[in-house]
Amino acid sequence: MNAVKINRLEATLHALHNDAKKDYLRIGKGVVKSIFRPMQPADFEHAYLPISKEQGELLRKLILDHKCKNVVEFGTSFGISTIYLADAVRQTGGKVITTELLESKAKRAMQNLSHAGLENYVDLKIGDAMQTLKGHNAPIDFLFLDGWKDLYLPLFKMLEPQFHAGTLIYADNMDMAGTQYYGHYVLNRKQVYASQPLHGGKALLTSCLT
Ligand SMILES: C[S@@+](CC[C@H](N)C(=O)[O-])C[C@H]1O[C@@H](n2cnc3c(N)ncnc32)[C@H](O)[C@@H]1O
Repeated sequence: MNAVKINRLEATLHALHNDAKKDYLRIGKGVVKSIFRPMQPADFEHAYLPISKEQGELLRKLILDHKCKNVVEFGTSFGISTIYLADAVRQTGGKVITTELLESKAKRAMQNLSHAGLENYVDLKIGDAMQTLKGHNAPIDFLFLDGWKDLYLPLFKMLEPQFHAGTLIYADNMDMAGTQYYGHYVLNRKQVYASQPLHGGKALLTSCLT
């Protein structure tokens, strides 16, 4: 990538992280909508809910250090995390498969990936990840979990046959309700998975041993 393209990538990330600072307003509106019923993804249609820059840099470094090519992401939103993942696979010669439930968010993500010059490294599937990734039958080197929290475990189990020794799984928001089922599952299978908390317990990095 030449200097102009790198500037384009960094400028896009900078602008998106900056705009995401106003998420507290968008999240507030979403929470109000769900006072009398359970929250649902559409309540946060206008919110990024993104990873931090620090997390993005770590995702990119992990993929580069481990030379991961086949990357799968659950929860694209507007594509901030996808940009970090795509920039990493651009350098390893791989591809990101990412999936987003809401069509409006997926469209914005594709625009953002395009602004960053990374659209050719991403296959974005629109719909419920339990459907869009059903039948995914290719090896997974790196899995990033950041969609609806209750679905971490069922999605992980669905994709588990595609893991191999060295597959990395980075799960965000491990401090949120719903993720504990996933946490119990991997932490109780020490012969198969080795895990370490990251970012003060906000995330969990798991390596598949077999
Ligand atoms: C925390 S946000 C993802 C943030 C993004 N990874 C980033 O860092 O920029 C979670 C996203 O998952 C999406 N989502 C929720 N349930 C989903 C499902 N069943 N399948 C696919 N995406 C889903 C939501 O619409 C939301 O945009």
